Amino acid sequence: MSSQTLAIHGGAPAKQQPDPPMYPGGMMIDHEEEAAVLEVLRSKRLFRYYGPGNTTSKVAELERAYADQRGKKYALAVTSGTASLVCALHGLGIGPGDEVIVPAFTWIATAGAVIAVGAVPVVCEVDESLLMDAADVEQKITPYTKAIIPVHMRGAPANMDAIMAMARKHNLKVVEDTAQANGATFKGQWCGAIGDVGCYSFQFNKMLTSGEGGMLLTDDRVVWQRAEMFHDVIGGESRKDPVVDELCGINFRMPELLAAVNLVQLRRLDWLLDNMRARKRMIKEGLADVTQRKGITFRAENDEAGDTAICTVFFVDSVETGDRVIEALRAENIGAGDLYRRHKRDYHVYAHWEPILAQRGWSAGGDPWRWANRKIEYDHDMCPRSLDLLGRAVHLNVSPLLTNEDVEETIEGVNKVLNALA
Ligand SMILES: Cc1ncc(COP(=O)(O)O)c(C=O)c1O
Repeated sequence: MSSQTLAIHGGAPAKQQPDPPMYPGGMMIDHEEEAAVLEVLRSKRLFRYYGPGNTTSKVAELERAYADQRGKKYALAVTSGTASLVCALHGLGIGPGDEVIVPAFTWIATAGAVIAVGAVPVVCEVDESLLMDAADVEQKITPYTKAIIPVHMRGAPANMDAIMAMARKHNLKVVEDTAQANGATFKGQWCGAIGDVGCYSFQFNKMLTSGEGGMLLTDDRVVWQRAEMFHDVIGGESRKDPVVDELCGINFRMPELLAAVNLVQLRRLDWLLDNMRARKRMIKEGLADVTQRKGITFRAENDEAGDTAICTVFFVDSVETGDRVIEALRAENIGAGDLYRRHKRDYHVYAHWEPILAQRGWSAGGDPWRWANRKIEYDHDMCPRSLDLLGRAVHLNVSPLLTNEDVEETIEGVNKVLNALA
């Protein structure tokens, strides 16, 4: 049997090993995180604002580390990426009657956070980069639009030049959802530090992780104080020297143990980025010829140098071709995946946000769509370009733990599968 026989047809798989688990920061956890956690446990100071002895807060240290690294004045550590989005929106004063534009391709939490503050999400198209299309946002602006949330999905920076210019023209606030792209940059600026507020997640899938957790960055003292008051009803720094009226918040405080883990994880960022970027570069180079010959295009890059490189995505000509390619790649031991299928529920695509499309609220009397200033209508096909692109996308994880051999075999396997296409 020729080495070009597809594994799906009984040939030998091009890749010897399946991909390593795709938890970039999570897979790096070792004695350093253990020691950091033990140090906190032994100090018995598990709470950011007080504890026995003279220890300082790890949460405060983490906030300073993020703010300093990314050149922002204020940081707020919270319990999740979703919490950081909710705090950002409350920080900006977004609420009932307001509309916030979110992209068609993002985890449902982006839209969920908008609903949580009583505003309504409006969905816009993504472009060939699978990221917010500023031109389509412009079509969706109404007199009630207050903010937009560009999302740096699957590690890559959105086109922040176009987005910021459009937002400033229309006087809209920009909240960057950087949950999936911690470490990405756009033209040398950190994603999450370009808009009015930036949000990160430390959930286990993310680049850097403490299992759960989130971070908010801003230069705006008022926004930060409002966000901080919302994240902590009892204490916080803002209540000591408020520049805004005191407000009643809830509790999204990050525990000290999580901050200790995140401080170690932050030191791993450069290594992770270097390794993922090198592997992605090799993969794209190794596929350049076959993709060109087969008329297959890669996901467009708004700033290739700033991509965290957690994945490689290319577009085939149809959903059916995508299904065949993905099945064949999996047989070669390559962890390929799809990004959208009509009948496979995945909360990363608006068309599957059932509770939102149906405008279902938590209580009989109050849901954001009733408080909206106009009738909001959603439908499954409202962003056809996004569904077309996502449906034709083939997604490959780029783990930092892929060996050179794994990368070479991945290139060989993808070449084999794409060459077999008619
Ligand atoms: C794009 C995006 N936004 C927001 C979130 C929410 O983050 P978390 O799970 O930490 O609440 C996630 C991750 O789950 C995400 O992928």
